[in-house]
This record gives sequence, C-alpha cells and structure tokens, in this order.
Amino acid sequence: MTEVIMAPKGLAGVVVEDTILSRVDGVKGELTYLGYNVDELVSCSFEEIIHLFLYGSLPTRGQLEELNAKLVAARTIPESVQNYVAQAPADHPMATLRSGISMLSGYLTDPEDLSDASLKDDAIALISKTATVAAAIARVRAGKPLVTPREDLSHAANFLYMCNGEVPEDIVTDTMNLALILHADHSFNASTFTARVVASTQSDMVSAICAAVGSLKGPLHGGANTAVMKTLMEIGELDNVESWLDTALTEKRKIMGFGHRVYRVFDPRARHLKAMSEEWGKRVGNVKWFEMSARLEQLMLDKKNINPNVDFYSASTYYAMGIDPDMYTPIFAVSRVLGWSAHVVEQLSDNRIFRPKANYVGGEGKKLVAIEDR
Ligand SMILES: CC(C)(COP(=O)(O)OP(=O)(O)OC[C@H]1O[C@@H](n2cnc3c(N)ncnc32)[C@H](O)[C@@H]1OP(=O)(O)O)[C@@H](O)C(=O)NCCC(=O)NCCS
Repeated sequence: MTEVIMAPKGLAGVVVEDTILSRVDGVKGELTYLGYNVDELVSCSFEEIIHLFLYGSLPTRGQLEELNAKLVAARTIPESVQNYVAQAPADHPMATLRSGISMLSGYLTDPEDLSDASLKDDAIALISKTATVAAAIARVRAGKPLVTPREDLSHAANFLYMCNGEVPEDIVTDTMNLALILHADHSFNASTFTARVVASTQSDMVSAICAAVGSLKGPLHGGANTAVMKTLMEIGELDNVESWLDTALTEKRKIMGFGHRVYRVFDPRARHLKAMSEEWGKRVGNVKWFEMSARLEQLMLDKKNINPNVDFYSASTYYAMGIDPDMYTPIFAVSRVLGWSAHVVEQLSDNRIFRPKANYVGGEGKKLVAIEDR
C-alpha cells in the first residue's frame, strides 16, 4: 500500500515545488523577487520587473527596448472583446475580466504551443492586454467610451490613460508603477497555485490565467482590497473605528486587509503602501481614510496581534487617487498576471501533473434501493 500523507488543512506549511521567482519570509517580513529584496526594486519600472520574471535578470537598455516594443505592439484588444466588455453587466468587473481574457485565446500566436519561447511571448501579450481589458471595464463602469492605447507611454501610464482618457501626472504614474511592482508575485498564493495546477495538465497559458483570475476574485485573496474600502465606508468616521471593531470581533467577522498565512510581522508591501496612503491623503487634502486605516491597524495589533496585509493600505491609496473601489481587484490582476504567467513558464519547464489524494470519509457498502422504495 502507498504511504498516505495527510496534509494540514489549507496546505498550511506544505512546500509543493521549488521556485526561483519569489520568496516570502514571514518572520523577517521580507519579499524577494529572483534574489532581490522587493525594497530594492521599487525604483524600477514595471517593465524591468517583467523582464526580471520572464527572463531571469534585470534588462539592459537594449533588452528593455526590445521588451517594451513587444508590450506596446500587444496593447490593443480585438473588437469582439471590446464589444463584450461594453455589453457585460458593469457590476461584476472580475467576471468580465476573466471572460475578456478568455476571449483572447484565439488572438495569441499559437496558444497550444507550450515551448518556452512561445509561452513567454504569450505572457507578454497577456500582461499587455490584461491592462487594456481592465481599463475598458473601468471606462464602461464610468459610462465613458473606450480609450485606444498609446504607444509612447509606459505600461503604468498607458493603463491610467486608458482608464481616465488623459495622460496622468508623473506622481500618479509612479504610484501605479509601485503598486504594480508590489503586487507582481507572492510565492505560492492561492491564485498562483491555481495557475500552476492548470498549467501542470499541459493546458494553455490563457486557461491558467483565467483560472487564476477566478481565484484572485475571492475576498480572502485579492478581493480583500475592494472589501477594505467597503469596510472603511461602513465605519464612516474616525471616532467609530473602535466601537465598530469591537462589534465586528464579537461577531467573529474577519477584518478585511488583515492577517496572512505566511507573515507573522508587518507585510513589507503594506509598509510601502501605508506611506503612499498617507502621502496621497495629504495630496488630495483628505487624510480621513488614511487616519481611519492607521487607527484600525493599531487596534487590530492591540486587540488581536494581527498585522495588515497588502490589501489594506492599497485601498485608501487607490481611493485618494480617485479609483473606483470595484476596480481595485482588477488592478491587482493587471499586476499579478506577471507572476501567474512566469509561474506557468516555470511549471512547464519541469512539469509533473498535480494530483493529490483525498481522504474519503463518505462511508461504504450501501445497497441500492429502487427509487420507488427510497
Ligand atoms: C488571509 C487569511 C485568509 C489567512 O487565513 P489563514 O491562514 O487560514 O488564517 P486563519 O483564518 O486560520 O487565522 C488564524 C487566526 O487569526 C484570526 N484572523 C486571521 N485573520 C483575521 C482577520 N482578518 N480578522 C480577524 N481575525 C483574523 C482567525 O480568526 C484565527 O483565529 P482563531 O485561531 O482564534 O480561530 C485570513 O487572515 C483572512 O481571512 N484575512 C482577511 C482577508 C484578507 O485580507 N485577505 C487578503 C490576504 S493577502
């Protein structure tokens, strides 16, 4: 009989594969991308991080130009996808993003070609086009016409341009660029694991990314950033924070944007986003959401010893930037599509299908009773 290993619930603490892509040190509070502490990388462009994840090194100027040309060339999305987004129900942005990306399959060079070079080209195309689909969703939600991508803007600036119809100020672009870098990858989180499981069946890149978008949508994962803003709005005022939290904890509610399977200390991504949240609050002359967040952070630490995660301060940052809260999770996907696609490439470079076992507890030996006698 084969030995049975019962994994802990939620696979907590289980290591399932090697990866060179990212490491989360939950004790030191460090996030590493291919050997670089993420704190080192925040001054890069998102395009440089794309090169790092897909080709294993930060690019030279020539390599960056080559990559950028591919990204720019892939920015448009087919009319069929634009029409779909325009007609899809506006209140389910992650569902529309998932289906919109799914429709891109036929427009990649050859989605069935799982060679390393083809997968990397598909990854670049999907990273580029996911931003265009997400921006189209933002425009439809705002009741405005879609905006054709520009070739002369960076990935972050072009995304904002397609969302808002105007070229963003540098500070807005820099904040989006930072958010894209911080959300790009995070070891074997639920959506990344989902993407790798799909890839392990030798399915295709688009299928893996669509499945990952579905996984990210949940409020225990990427959906938490939208839920954080809804929580802050529910609390309403700084003076309500403590009484609201006491009630929520008594009712055993999960406080969105707090807690993490791996981090036992402050999430390093949240540190950058907290600074951004404060800076943006001051910039727009409304520090209320930052102050409420900071109070909630302190109270959660005092009462539960639980720290905020990446989704907590991204909410008040994006809100101050004027971004629609229901777009926060799609923006997460605009970044994480990089991590997902790099993981698909890595999975297929040394693949074995994921096929765990289950501990069957459904009983046995029951006798069939004819339907009229049940
Ligand atoms: C992230 C998360 C899903 C991790 O889940 P997990 O590793 O299974 O951790 P658990 O849910 O088992 O939490 C361990 C303990 O901390 C508590 N806890 C964890 N996160 C909490 C939160 N956000 N609010 C209140 N209590 C929380 C749990 O109730 C549990 O307490 P118990 O042992 O008394 O039952 C969980 O912390 C959570 O639901 N957070 C809110 C959603 C969120 O922000 N998700 C984004 C993650 S980046």
